[in-house]
Amino acid sequence: MSKMIAIIGGEAFAKEVIEVAEAVGYEIYGIFAKEEPSDTQYPYRGYLEELDEQKSNFSGVIVAIGAFNKKTIKARNNILAFLMSNDIRQISIISPFARIGARAIIGKGVYIAHNVVIAIDANIGDAVLINTGALIGHNVIVSSNSSIGSRVFIGGGTIIEKNVTIGASSSILQGICVGSGSTLGMASLVLKSLKPNSFVLPSPSHVISND
Ligand SMILES: CC(C)(COP(=O)(O)OP(=O)(O)OC[C@H]1O[C@@H](n2cnc3c(N)ncnc32)[C@H](O)[C@@H]1OP(=O)(O)O)[C@@H](O)C(=O)NCCC(=O)NCCS
Repeated sequence: MSKMIAIIGGEAFAKEVIEVAEAVGYEIYGIFAKEEPSDTQYPYRGYLEELDEQKSNFSGVIVAIGAFNKKTIKARNNILAFLMSNDIRQISIISPFARIGARAIIGKGVYIAHNVVIAIDANIGDAVLINTGALIGHNVIVSSNSSIGSRVFIGGGTIIEKNVTIGASSSILQGICVGSGSTLGMASLVLKSLKPNSFVLPSPSHVISND
């Protein structure tokens, strides 16, 4: 199988994904994004329509767009639907500095950033993104198309259903379930199961004084 891959996404996060991809031996065919990135050394190849036409030039793609707000959740879902309907293969990229526990299962099109720890017997579904330093407990299930922010903690045995966004530095208790389509704002603390499509926000810090 060729090590040539294509990157979808032209923002700073895509550069990080490229760095990790190259560290594990992939070569970059080019970037597919809505607009040409201004400062990349990799060729801009167009957007989704061009991706389909050029797919014989690479062995797979990785979606380097995190779903961390309304706009990017929609964009990522549209891209994943396009990849499915056009039978474009997604490849998984796992940082050499991530730790994957025994018997953990990792799906297709998964991105796992530096310093992520995935404990034993966890199950990571297709097209899941796990950002820097997240800790996924033992026997956790993260279902397809979910995005997990940096330094998120997910306790053992918890189930994250599909299309869930978990903002950076959030903590989720062990043994609960986060329903599909839910969005958890940055630094959420979740202690009970959430119904599908829940929108959760933490108490943000507030100014006590500024003198
Ligand atoms: C919570 C979060 C997902 C909302 O992002 P968003 O979709 O761009 O935010 P919007 O400003 O469009 O808000 C969405 C809705 O939530 C509401 N909302 C947002 N913040 C709110 C708050 N603090 N209190 C109450 N409502 C709030 C908005 O009013 C809006 O409602 P509407 O759809 O009826 O207009 C986002 O702030 C967040 O925390 N994302 C995670 C970021 C992150 O962790 N990034 C790093 C990843 S490594």
